[in-house]
Amino acid sequence: MSGVLIVYYSEGSSEKIAHDVATILNGKLDKITNLQPYKGLTGYFRMKLDAYFENTTGIRFKEDPSQYTSVVIVSSVCAGKLPAAVRTYITDHIASMKNYGFIINSNDQISKKTHLHFRKILKEAIAGHDIVNTDIDTDLYYKHLEDFADRFRIVMDKDDQDEK
Ligand SMILES: Cc1cc2nc3c(=O)[nH]c(=O)nc-3n(C[C@H](O)[C@H](O)[C@H](O)COP(=O)(O)O)c2cc1C
Repeated sequence: MSGVLIVYYSEGSSEKIAHDVATILNGKLDKITNLQPYKGLTGYFRMKLDAYFENTTGIRFKEDPSQYTSVVIVSSVCAGKLPAAVRTYITDHIASMKNYGFIINSNDQISKKTHLHFRKILKEAIAGHDIVNTDIDTDLYYKHLEDFADRFRIVMDKDDQDEK
């Protein structure tokens, strides 16, 4: 077991965030794919309803998170909650994930209620960070990502020490 896994679900901007975190932490990327893709206007509403009613869905991904020292989950906000694909991933893996944290990405200021919704599901997160997608690539965005990454560096350093 070693390294950081950055798992993400994205139609666009969360992927960029995941790549930036992976670069900063030298982590491995893994994309969650919904096996029932949302297409067009009906897809938009189906995605919202799935998130709102806290449904799960069929998903595909590659890596086994239990094999990593830390896991970072990068997710968009949908109907103020987790997209169904992210909910499915977390439900299936939370028991085996160690030292996990999350980044929530939205197109508007993330409400306290939404942040707490993620926190409630990812109860033992060592870090949680909200990003408004219009802030991506700003100096402050990179500063916050560095601060977020520090939490994981501490865990990784401790893990290295324990192995010596
Ligand atoms: C179906 C749907 C529902 C959404 N619901 C919310 C919401 O409730 N609150 C919010 O702040 N943003 C909401 N968004 C906006 C996304 O969270 C935002 O655009 C995010 O940056 C998308 O990330 P992505 O490009 O990686 O998929 C929603 C987007 C979609 C497509």
